[in-house]
Amino acid sequence: MASFKLLLLPGDGIGTEVMDEVTRLVDWANGTGAVSIETETDLVGGCAYDEHGEAISEAAMQTAHAADAVMLGAVGGPKWDGVPYDKRPEAGLLRLRKDLELFANLRPAICYPALADASSLKRELVEGLDIMIVRELTGGVYFGEPKEITDLGNGQKRAVDTQVYETYEIERIAAVAFDLARKRGNLVHSAEKRNVMKTGVLWNEVVTRVHKDGYSDVKLEHILADNCAMQLVRAPKQFDVIVTDNLFGDVLSDEAAMATGSLGMLPSARSARRTRTACGPPCTSRCMARRDIAGQGKANPIATIASFAMCLRYSFDQGELADKIETAIAAVLDQGLRTGDIAQEGCKTVGTREMGDAIIASLNSAS
Ligand code: IPM
Ligand code: MG
Repeated sequence: MASFKLLLLPGDGIGTEVMDEVTRLVDWANGTGAVSIETETDLVGGCAYDEHGEAISEAAMQTAHAADAVMLGAVGGPKWDGVPYDKRPEAGLLRLRKDLELFANLRPAICYPALADASSLKRELVEGLDIMIVRELTGGVYFGEPKEITDLGNGQKRAVDTQVYETYEIERIAAVAFDLARKRGNLVHSAEKRNVMKTGVLWNEVVTRVHKDGYSDVKLEHILADNCAMQLVRAPKQFDVIVTDNLFGDVLSDEAAMATGSLGMLPSARSARRTRTACGPPCTSRCMARRDIAGQGKANPIATIASFAMCLRYSFDQGELADKIETAIAAVLDQGLRTGDIAQEGCKTVGTREMGDAIIASLNSAS
């Protein structure tokens, strides 16, 4: 039997609530006899700052390095709004990405049939939607130097962020996108702003070359990132795989998520050359948006549960178990169960735990 080490980093706010449901899914997976997953839990984000004065401790980083996969819940909350910039909750998340070299972030946007009406877009635009956003995660403006605010001494300040990409960073993310497209709809849109950014010019050039050299069987379209944002709400089903840089990927993946009904539905996996993967929902954006419900047991655990399915599929090579979880999520939605964020007339609104219960019940009845 294949055995794996999984580090759970629930983080703050609703992160701990949704991660509790993942823990139960781990028990289910172990119970199938197909895998043996050993979990460890540690702190990240505001709770780590409270305990260690850092958004993630060295010990937790070491555990992460030694694990086969890392699952993260959510970070941040009003309590830590005033902490120093380099110790803010998000710094823990960024350090994990950078130090584990998780350069490829896979963010699927799938519209479950039962949820087509929960989208802010018309049913016919989103029904059957299945997009994979491949976001570069360890470069670009998130990490480029200089990154600073200088006091100009005349009552003015000057802020600089640096967008920087090197050839190899674009080559490897493009390859991930083309490989994925071959297993899906065989179409890649590469989104950048070559009309105003030098990084966009290089991005376009490198993606074109990678395509020509090794992936000419895949259809490639270049699209300006702003046009991509527009097309995502105009006609999202024209997309299969979208490959883009760190910042555009951050924005476009939130936009695509809303087409599926809620950010609470969108899983996410980050990988480094397919060796180690970290999974988790788009953390703080969701946590920030849902600070209102932290601690109330109302959060939607589906994104995190679906992220665990991605972890099984991509890190542990357990596609069958992942399929089962994804089928159970769809079944529970078909039964008319909804958390508050996707509440619908005629459906039953439930809390985090009840949603987890229903998914586990569906898994148990299927086996
Ligand atoms: C995400 C989040 C993060 C990001 C924040 C929390 C730093 O928005 O994962 O999409 O910007 O990458
Ligand atoms: Mg985001």
